[in-house]
Amino acid sequence: MQELQIPIHIQVFSLEELPEADRELVEIAKAMTKTSYSPYSHFQVGAALRLKDGRIFKGSNQENAAYPVGLCAERTAFFAAGANAPEVPPVSIAIAAQTGGQFIETPVAPCGSCRQALLEAEVRYQEPIRVILYGTKNIFVASNVRDLLPLTFDGSQLS
Ligand code: THU
Repeated sequence: MQELQIPIHIQVFSLEELPEADRELVEIAKAMTKTSYSPYSHFQVGAALRLKDGRIFKGSNQENAAYPVGLCAERTAFFAAGANAPEVPPVSIAIAAQTGGQFIETPVAPCGSCRQALLEAEVRYQEPIRVILYGTKNIFVASNVRDLLPLTFDGSQLS
């Protein structure tokens, strides 16, 4: 038996330490929590995705009485960018969440489906996507999606 250790790299910032471009994206993600439609979970998530040309696409989670029909904030932003600017690679995404009227303390963790969806863009455009996860205590930054999804599955395995 062998053991495989897969190191991942996450930077931990306070809001003050965060680079200006990231902070701007975090503020948009925080504002986007206000547009969340989450009458079932009461967990309001906002996302802001920056493209290489500087455009920013925004998203928030959109729920449905038939639960699986709803979509996470990250994917509403990401799919809007893919539909409206398919030629431009995404370079960073910030995510924030609040519940009970408060932003959550620990950095919000994107679900596995969102990690997989974002990974597809890294493979498609061959550009890393910086992922900024906001929490009131600290902010986690991964410099690419692979760090959030070790042992990745992508289209190269289908051929
Ligand atoms: N949610 C997101 O929008 N993004 C995440 O990163 C985690 C979860 C949403 C999905 C659902 O509307 C609610 O939060 C509770 O899971």
